[in-house]
Amino acid sequence: MNETKRLHMITWGCQMNVYDSGRMADVLAPLGYVPSATPEDADMVILNTCHIRDRAAEKVFSELGRLRVMKDARAEAGHKMVLAVAGCVAQAEGAEILARAPYVDIVLGPQTYHKLPEMVARAARAGGAVIETDFPPEDKFDHLPEATAPQGITAFLTIQEGCDKFCSFCVVPYTRGAEMSRPVAAIIAEARRLVAQGSREITLLGQNVNAWHGVGLDGQPTSLGTLVRLLAKLPGLDRIRYTTSHPRDMDDDLIAAHGEVPELMPFLHLPVQSGSDRILAAMNRRHTAADYLALVAKLRAARPDIALSSDFIIGHPGETEADFEATLALIRAVGFAQAFSFKYSARPGTPAAGAPMQVPEADKDRRLQTLQALLRQQQAEFNLSVEGQVMPVLITGAGRRPGQIGGRSPWLQPVHLDGPAHLIGREIPVRIVIGKPSSLAGTLVEELVQA
Ligand code: SAH
Ligand code: SF4
Ligand code: F3S
Repeated sequence: MNETKRLHMITWGCQMNVYDSGRMADVLAPLGYVPSATPEDADMVILNTCHIRDRAAEKVFSELGRLRVMKDARAEAGHKMVLAVAGCVAQAEGAEILARAPYVDIVLGPQTYHKLPEMVARAARAGGAVIETDFPPEDKFDHLPEATAPQGITAFLTIQEGCDKFCSFCVVPYTRGAEMSRPVAAIIAEARRLVAQGSREITLLGQNVNAWHGVGLDGQPTSLGTLVRLLAKLPGLDRIRYTTSHPRDMDDDLIAAHGEVPELMPFLHLPVQSGSDRILAAMNRRHTAADYLALVAKLRAARPDIALSSDFIIGHPGETEADFEATLALIRAVGFAQAFSFKYSARPGTPAAGAPMQVPEADKDRRLQTLQALLRQQQAEFNLSVEGQVMPVLITGAGRRPGQIGGRSPWLQPVHLDGPAHLIGREIPVRIVIGKPSSLAGTLVEELVQA
């Protein structure tokens, strides 16, 4: 038996990092590591990092400074704190981390998590820092343990990783490596385990999730539409989502699945980044604004109540006032239920970082404010539009007040209502009373809810 050790994790970045943190905990569990909510008393701290924007990466170094003090205090008390940096900053800046923070014990890239136990052993033996940022030839998913800790009512399941798109601004192809797709059998087996552990909603994850083309049960490459149809047959799985999609990989079969599979939720995060064809070309997105609008029209024809979400980058090199106006025009034409928007951040090693015509910060700030005001208004209008509706809400937990419960609408809106705790984990009909700017208030439709 291994003695119990405490593991504290800090996770930044996308949902895939959240999933990965869970898998790292799964890998370490047989060694006796149990999750700890605080770093002070931890035997091991893992920072799972994000490199997508400048500020995301800087957070890592300030957190490391804070942890160093705790690590020293623990050493004085005669205990070791193993400090590990994982994720995309580890992959992109492994050597720099060890130079700037020599007290870090382990640096590991996203493709090496299955080697964590071996790295912990090496760090304990050698005392020096261990760094693993190669893209190993073996597939980490073949070496990660089958056993997973329960994720809860909503769960993530990575089906695809890496990206071959090389958008001008983006670090992901460098930090996550080439596209790979997990096979159908492995995905279904993991989905079954999640459902058996109580998950009712699964979000399929991938940096380019709709480029997934895993080997099917017949040995042939399969498309995401087919996978969704297979998963929808799993008893107990009420809801399926997938993220993040690229407009170029939205094929007709997947669009059709939105119209045919009730378990597939009527909400799609489909980042467009810009509404200007000039900037879309400079970004290497390989689609136009008109292509995107045509795609939205097809999706709405297949599933009229589908709501859309997107990501926008403001101030990509070369963006003029006219380009920005084109982005606003696209937003008005689509009408988004929700969106994320970011100021362009030059990332080392990406093509756009060295491009001429970088946009001044003041212009980026002003444009971002205008854009976010429009997106906020659209979100508020969308939330208002569902007032009075009775909709299925998946209850995921207790609310902030006693007697309150909360969950998610099919369109991913947070919903709060008064109701008994035994409804947690169930999808129940809720009448929406108020559509607030970023959440909904509802009431139980009593006669429809069986005790
Ligand atoms: N795979 C997804 C996006 C992954 S990154 C896609 O293809 O759309 C998440 C979001 O971060 C991106 O959609 C983009 O809007 C933003 N982003 C990526 N690189 C950025 C950069 N250098 N500066 C600002 N935002 C960036
Ligand atoms: Fe980055 Fe583009 Fe790949 Fe998305 S599609 S992960 S934005 S390179
Ligand atoms: Fe960040 Fe890496 Fe995800 S850079 S957004 S954690 S893929």
